[in-house]
Amino acid sequence: MSSTPVDIKDVRAASKRIHSWVHRTPVLTCQSLNNLAGRQLYFKAENLQKTGSFKVRGACNAVFLEKESNPDSSGVVTDSSGNHAQAVAYAAKCVGLDCTVVLPRGAPKVKCDAIRGYDAEIVFCEPTPISRKETCIRVSEETGKTIIQSSDNYSVIAGQGTIALELLEEVPDLDAIIVPTSGGGMLAGIGVTVHSIHPKCQVYAVEPVGKDLQRCLEAKQRLWPNPPLYLNTVADALRLQAIGYLSFPIICEYASHRVFTVTDDQMIEGMKLSFERMKQVVEAASGAGVYAAVNLMNQVQPTAHKVGVVLCGGNVDLDNLPWLTPTITY
Ligand SMILES: Cc1ncc(COP(=O)(O)O)c(C=O)c1O
Repeated sequence: MSSTPVDIKDVRAASKRIHSWVHRTPVLTCQSLNNLAGRQLYFKAENLQKTGSFKVRGACNAVFLEKESNPDSSGVVTDSSGNHAQAVAYAAKCVGLDCTVVLPRGAPKVKCDAIRGYDAEIVFCEPTPISRKETCIRVSEETGKTIIQSSDNYSVIAGQGTIALELLEEVPDLDAIIVPTSGGGMLAGIGVTVHSIHPKCQVYAVEPVGKDLQRCLEAKQRLWPNPPLYLNTVADALRLQAIGYLSFPIICEYASHRVFTVTDDQMIEGMKLSFERMKQVVEAASGAGVYAAVNLMNQVQPTAHKVGVVLCGGNVDLDNLPWLTPTITY
């Protein structure tokens, strides 16, 4: 019996629903990174995913369900720091729904261009979680469009779980999976899936400094301030400080309560390792996972032999690579 509202059946149903519209991304290995890490690393290359991030999995599942359940739908609206927005815009275009995305001012140009490329309309808001939510609700009320939350949505969580379904099909005996975490939808989906298929495998979040997830998991309480904050981090995809209300209980149950915390410099080092050693263009969120797998695993699970890492996205602005220009502060 499942004790959470998303279970493996939902993840498998999501996999069926979305499989023609998303890539089954490769699992990459790299001998020089294995040597550095002292263990075998398996990189799920969601940077090569449609729209450039794993977000398309959850977005397609949620948007396709909206279309199935409401054929006369006025469309969908979402608020996002970029990757989820791009993913919802893509998903809406796949099934012919109108789409509006609310983006914080300052979102990378590469992401804005991509969203417009899928024919979605962009409405800008102030770069605060409150402005983002309020603007999204206003658009929904004015247009009748259904809100598709970026991680606090059970259909999105089930869609993200398909990453682990595929990864475990290829490497069934993983000891751990490292998941870059913001709102927690990916961590929750992967947690549910791994718990059902291979419960011995530990699922770890990697977070930017200031998120303090481990303290919340240990207390089993969302200790973050309300209204929620954005973190000042080089990883624009990991700026939400708080895990969502729906994801948090799932994560408490299925993810390790030990969390990897990384600085901006460490994320950048992880990005560089990916560029140089694997020849993979990844964004800073992915760099967080690479850094943790290579450098921090010893502190947490030294005996882990096979470790999965989600290269969660590859949407970098090539004119704004973090080691070439000063880091943007918000
Ligand atoms: C590239 C990338 N990695 C990781 C995350 C974090 O995902 P979640 O919000 O499901 O924790 C995001 C979220 O936007 C993302 O775009």
